[in-house]
Amino acid sequence: MDSSSIRQRAPKSQPSSSSSEHSYSQPDEIEDANTRVISLLDILRIIFTLIAVSCALSYYLTSGSSYFWKYNPWFASPSQVARWWKGPLLLTPEQLALYNGTDPEKPIYLAINGTIFDVTAGKHTYGPGGSYEVFAGRDATRAFVTGCFLEDRTGDLRGAEEIYIPIDDPEEEIASGARKTRAERERRAAKKRVLQEVRKWEEFYRHHKKYFEVGNLVNVSEYLDKPPVLCEAAQKGRPKRKNIRTVNEVEAPGKPVQ
Ligand SMILES: *[C@@H]1O[C@H](CO)[C@@H](O)[C@H](O)[C@H]1NC(C)=O
Ligand SMILES: *[C@@H]1O[C@H](CO)[C@@H](O)[C@H](O)[C@H]1NC(C)=O
Ligand SMILES: *[C@@H]1O[C@H](CO)[C@@H](O)[C@H](O)[C@H]1NC(C)=O
Repeated sequence: MDSSSIRQRAPKSQPSSSSSEHSYSQPDEIEDANTRVISLLDILRIIFTLIAVSCALSYYLTSGSSYFWKYNPWFASPSQVARWWKGPLLLTPEQLALYNGTDPEKPIYLAINGTIFDVTAGKHTYGPGGSYEVFAGRDATRAFVTGCFLEDRTGDLRGAEEIYIPIDDPEEEIASGARKTRAERERRAAKKRVLQEVRKWEEFYRHHKKYFEVGNLVNVSEYLDKPPVLCEAAQKGRPKRKNIRTVNEVEAPGKPVQ
């Protein structure tokens, strides 16, 4: 009779634990534990070998340019690992302004809704003379939404949702109550779109191959003065309620939508 049958029988004959039962079960448990540890180790070994083989294959097939099939994980970059180790970088707007690209020794940072991203890899775009220079060293979230790079170099999003709200047509025949309800509904929807737009840009930088998140803005003062007016270009781009039907007709089959 082997030990496993004893183990199976023991609990039935003696439901309440006793010292004699322990003397049987203990060696078995140790044995079980050993078997489990060994098989877990084996699995880890197999996984590790597969990863190593994948890295080697990737290195070979990409002619030595990547261990991760051209995917650029943050843990493959020493500076990002150091950053991760130290935790998020906290900067005030004044401190962030120093990372504006004019000092080639410093990284270039920009912020979106308080999250700071490193865009040093895009020097030509975000550095001096670049087309997105205005974003360097500041939180210009409003400009991301409105597209007005000169006027809207601020994180103040108050009223930015107007860009999505159709311009009212005073000649439209609609009860004032209904107009008000519609205006409220449209503003809610427009604010949601602003949120989506900001998130979209945050995700763009967060998941970009060469840019990465480094930290957060702190001590951002509240916007208490008058909200900015919608910039002219954004005002011109607002949808026009009167033309909604005509716009739909223009976009009817036959005319490709860009
Ligand atoms: C840009 O950054 C440099 C240092 O990197 C700083 O001396 C300069 O004042 C900054 N410019 C602005 C407008 O903050
Ligand atoms: C900005 O971030 C705050 C949290 O810090 C969040 O509550 C808010 O919804 C964000 N705004 C946008 C437009 O994403
Ligand atoms: C932010 O402001 C608080 C007080 O208003 C101050 O104690 C703190 O040191 C500031 N943080 C930074 C990073 O300047």
